[in-house]
Amino acid sequence: MNEANVLESAVKPGPVDLRSANRREELKTDHSKTDGYFNLISYIVSNAISGEIMAIENYSEMVPLMPSTDDKIETVKQAHEESKHILMLASLGKRHDYVVMREIVEPQWFNIRRHFSTAVANKDLPACLIIQDLMTETMAIVLYRTLQRQGDPDTAILAGNILKDELEHLDIGLARIRSLLAEDPEGVNEALKWAHHRVMPELFSMVSTSCHFLCDRLNIDCGALSLGDLKTDIDQIRVEALDAYIETLDKADFNPVVTAQLIESMQSYGGTPAMAGSLAN
Ligand SMILES: [Fe+2]
Ligand SMILES: [Fe+2]
Repeated sequence: MNEANVLESAVKPGPVDLRSANRREELKTDHSKTDGYFNLISYIVSNAISGEIMAIENYSEMVPLMPSTDDKIETVKQAHEESKHILMLASLGKRHDYVVMREIVEPQWFNIRRHFSTAVANKDLPACLIIQDLMTETMAIVLYRTLQRQGDPDTAILAGNILKDELEHLDIGLARIRSLLAEDPEGVNEALKWAHHRVMPELFSMVSTSCHFLCDRLNIDCGALSLGDLKTDIDQIRVEALDAYIETLDKADFNPVVTAQLIESMQSYGGTPAMAGSLAN
């Protein structure tokens, strides 16, 4: 299916698609997936699409700050890959007969966009790369890894395909940040502090099944969502997210004194109970 067709099939309301209803019934019977599972996936996929939309906007806004033409081309390519992720996720919802939002709903995404735009206005390329290439990509990797590991077969395959791109985006970001750190260690570590306190609380607050508006928009019962339907829980994902964030900061070669302080600060906004507790000891 070419991209135009993917888009068409993802957006076209059309009559009730019997194949989608059948596929959902197959997953319910063959893989013990309940309506609760599909509601949870509808919620997660919708929020993932929001993150992908934010990523397109961030990468696009960052292009003029990229130093070389090759860097600009690479950044546009990243934005394009995020756009394909939206279409893939939306078509999964259609195939499994659940609703997905195709716009940003939760306020945290708008807040991160605002901070990113501030960094662009300040011509602060390190802060832009840290917000999008490192922080957002790291959280995307945790999300898609979870869906790959715990989702139904269709969701797992799709999440695995998106995950490959996100891992590549993170690697691109790590290489970019390492070279900027080599030029200006103090400035780039300062950019990390600035971005961390603004963006990480927003990203971590979304590792949750309680939302501001999303469930209302999807017409699902917020209180009934349970990560048990994905055979995981919030604490486990938060620990994984914190571990992944620490690994990203280590790989980027930031100053360990700076990163230790930042990680410790995460307990103040409910980073991860288990890890934050042990770090504080
Ligand atoms: Fe993506
Ligand atoms: Fe990405």
